[in-house]
Amino acid sequence: MIARRDLFRTSAGVLAAGALVPALDACSKSSPKASSPGSSGSGGGKAIKLGFSQVGSESGWRTANTTSVKDAAAKAGITLNFSDAQQKQENQIAAIRNFIAQKVDVISFSPVVTSGWDAVLNEAKSAKIPVILTDRQVDGDPSLYVCLVGSDFEAEGERAAHLMEKVLTGMTGPINMAQLEGTSGSAPATQRAAGFKKVMAASDPSWKIVISQDGNFTRDGGKQVMAAFLQSHPEINALFAHNDDMAIGAIQSIVAAGKKPGTDIKIVSIDGVHDGFVAMSQGQINAIAECNPLLGPQLMDTVKAVLAGQTVEKWIKTKESDFTADQAAAALPQRQY
Ligand code: AHR
Repeated sequence: MIARRDLFRTSAGVLAAGALVPALDACSKSSPKASSPGSSGSGGGKAIKLGFSQVGSESGWRTANTTSVKDAAAKAGITLNFSDAQQKQENQIAAIRNFIAQKVDVISFSPVVTSGWDAVLNEAKSAKIPVILTDRQVDGDPSLYVCLVGSDFEAEGERAAHLMEKVLTGMTGPINMAQLEGTSGSAPATQRAAGFKKVMAASDPSWKIVISQDGNFTRDGGKQVMAAFLQSHPEINALFAHNDDMAIGAIQSIVAAGKKPGTDIKIVSIDGVHDGFVAMSQGQINAIAECNPLLGPQLMDTVKAVLAGQTVEKWIKTKESDFTADQAAAALPQRQY
């Protein structure tokens, strides 16, 4: 089980730093490479070389994100060196070192966890290669990366909690909630839990999280952890899953336990991938706070801007929406991922 107090402390630190950064340091020119005239990406006719280290392929969200990055790079004429870290930080560090050795123009990565990056980011800085974070934040020295292109995970946790409030409206008796957390130590797990907890603390005091555990953002993780939850806490009647894949895995265990997902156990999750929308249209997931994985075009625009020496925001945020089960069937055909 994760020590929740440690997670919340980490999250608060990350967000406090993030909130100050745009005002103090909203400038790609702070990156050594971005200010170097004559870099290969600044119009010399050579294709920009981008080294990209992806977290892995743990979820539908990740698959859509990978496709978005690859398609956008091809469309922008950027040569992409793509590396899949299989959810291991050591693989990401090795990939970044490899990109430095290959003298790419820009490095981008979605950090599997928040801590432990300063050493390798200092190596990129020494090599004068700008680093753009995508999707997830790090909690080290913010001067070691140019900017982040990605979502506000704490806001997503808050939105999920407000959706849960809506879903639970009218229910009588105690609410015994379970939480399926994303990968331990990752920005989305830490910050979504913090945002959700913050809103829940101000809600009905009879609502409590009776159990919370890491399901690693995978369908199988969600299935296994939920099966164990139902054994130890048969009183669970609400579930907050940090992503759709874990919710879908949990649904399988809920059905296997003879209960009706979405009815006996109310479910709110995050992402809004195709399979999440299908489960929502079937009434098995009650509501979803969207997390948009289509970051590729914004990332490529940012790569070009940074190499051209332009000023960029320190945190380029993604626009997202909320959906409830009654909207799912109508929204499904328009979903892009
Ligand atoms: O970092 C984004 C999160 O990572 C998504 O919500 C989850 O599905 C993915 O694995």
